[in-house]
Amino acid sequence: MLSTAALLLAVAPLTAPNGSISKAPFGKAPDGKPVFAYTLTNAKGASAKVLTWGAVLNRLQMPDREGKLGDVVLGLDSLKPYEGTVPYFGATVGRYANRIAKGRFTLNGKTYKLAVNNGPNSLHGGLKGYDKRVWKAVPRTTPEGPSLTLNLVDPAGTEGYPGTVSVSVTYTLTNANALRIAYRATTTAPTPINLTNHSYFNLKDAGESDVRGHLLHLYADRYTPTDATLIPTGKLTPVAGTPYDFTKTKAIGMDMDAVKGYDVNYVPSTKGFRQVAGVVEPTTGRTLQCWTDQPGVQLYTSFFLDGTITGRHGTKYDQYHAFCLETQHFPDSPNQKNFPSSILTPGKPFVSKTEYRFGVVK
Ligand code: GLA
Repeated sequence: MLSTAALLLAVAPLTAPNGSISKAPFGKAPDGKPVFAYTLTNAKGASAKVLTWGAVLNRLQMPDREGKLGDVVLGLDSLKPYEGTVPYFGATVGRYANRIAKGRFTLNGKTYKLAVNNGPNSLHGGLKGYDKRVWKAVPRTTPEGPSLTLNLVDPAGTEGYPGTVSVSVTYTLTNANALRIAYRATTTAPTPINLTNHSYFNLKDAGESDVRGHLLHLYADRYTPTDATLIPTGKLTPVAGTPYDFTKTKAIGMDMDAVKGYDVNYVPSTKGFRQVAGVVEPTTGRTLQCWTDQPGVQLYTSFFLDGTITGRHGTKYDQYHAFCLETQHFPDSPNQKNFPSSILTPGKPFVSKTEYRFGVVK
């Protein structure tokens, strides 16, 4: 006689009600460690592919208004380019996402020096940030949808940062077509921390054409202006009357040429877990809402892409062919007294959540 469990298994439908998770090899890291790709498929058939390299969101497929699935982020099908010059595609960025001026900060009377890897500044965690490490993955099916937790231990002194940080990033692809990214980090000594996901979105064709026609609404009435090296001046400036104003929906390309594309940290008008951005792609009908509890969000319209990276489907990723909404602490917070503190201390974990919620308009 078959047990109830076996019977249930025997009649299980192809699309499981809680979705499914599959695992496949994705090459070897330079140190020989195997890298895996996990594909989370939800009950609706949408899927997210996540790598143990850099906790990278490698692929995301969402339906258009006809229900046809298509790629909505830039990505590559082999590991090598991610180890090299691919600029943080889909990566989990840390220990400190964005810039720290002159690659130095002082904490409790001690000055720490970081790698200077972006003009005179430190960018995205240094030479071997979280985007270039192999994470340990733990898959899990949940009633909300398939989920993958990636864990990393970042030893004290690595890239110049104090304290050993244990970090976990959990991707959940909900059955409502939201990609939730939950972060948790603890430390053995005070340290700055700033964790983000650096996905390059293009809701139309995953990077074949530019994103000028995407309609964007940012729920942010101020931004943090910068010097020429993209370090904030410390001011919070109203967006009203500037090309940075997205408080009323407008095409990304509308005022873009005046500022050579956007690479700017916005200050959302409200606090707590709230919607900070809404995007509509009129030709496919795809929509994206960005929700986060973080104090800032960097809008980056991929100025530095120049067609030299060929990605999935042989697509040449050119300038302005994608946009990023990097939820974050304000850039250079460790050196800016008036910005919200980014300091993580022992005994008080960093907990944060960002959601990219997808939908369609008719
Ligand atoms: C962030 C920065 C940009 C750029 C990209 C990666 O978005 O703000 O200036 O460095 O990362 O190319």
